[in-house]
Amino acid sequence: GRRVTVRDLAAAKERHERWPMVTAYDAMTARVFDEAGIPVMLVGDSAAMVVYGYDSTLPVTVDDLIPLTAAVVRGSKRAMVIADLPFASYQASPQQALETAARFMKEAGAHAVKLEGGRRVLSQVEMLVSAGVPVMAHIGLTPQSVNVFGGYRVQGRGQSGDELMADAKALEHAGAFGVVLECVPADLAERVTASLSVPTIGIGAGAGTDAQVLVWQDLMGLTPRPAKFVKKYFDLAGEMDRAVRAYADEVVSGVFPAPEHSYH
Ligand code: KIV
Ligand code: NA
Repeated sequence: GRRVTVRDLAAAKERHERWPMVTAYDAMTARVFDEAGIPVMLVGDSAAMVVYGYDSTLPVTVDDLIPLTAAVVRGSKRAMVIADLPFASYQASPQQALETAARFMKEAGAHAVKLEGGRRVLSQVEMLVSAGVPVMAHIGLTPQSVNVFGGYRVQGRGQSGDELMADAKALEHAGAFGVVLECVPADLAERVTASLSVPTIGIGAGAGTDAQVLVWQDLMGLTPRPAKFVKKYFDLAGEMDRAVRAYADEVVSGVFPAPEHSYH
């Protein structure tokens, strides 16, 4: 079967069909999500935290993310794989944005890219779209700007809701194929969704968006202190703790390996 395309996602909006998106950073996890039918996977710059152990997304580089993106592409067959452009790899100019996107596409096989910002990155979006790169935008709480926001907090309350709406419309007009809305009031996300003909993808944006995205370690219960908007579908940290303790106990007691795990 073929991969999911931007046309499939546009058609889903026309049919009022919601769809799920998750992050992925390695081949085996990508395969599980792909076989479960997840149509879109994001190799997020959240890898800075969940893979590399930094405390924000700012330190992660293109060189850090390219091998992860390549692994997710290799591990999946059907999903669209979106590469998140990391901090300072696209903001300087449209040329810089295209050079970075080209690396993710040529070296890792990414099918699309995502970048943060509204009207301030419009020339980057236009350059990428004119070069044939599908672009997903990301507004609201944009974690690469955490030092401007002064923390991870809800965006778009009151007056700034109009600014967010204007950003969303400008991004659509510039050719973005979708817009992530992170940590914005649900009623604002619903109004933005109704105003755009391209899909909105919500994270902490309520139930009124066309799609939802979560970091997989958050939804699986591996993240120690997840945000309010996360629903925990599994206790992976607890299950892993239990399993690795059982393994350790059996090694110490001599129960593992048993005859059936040995070559005779
Ligand atoms: O980096 C990331 O994981 C993201 C999503 C949460 C939207 O940008
Ligand atoms: Na991101």
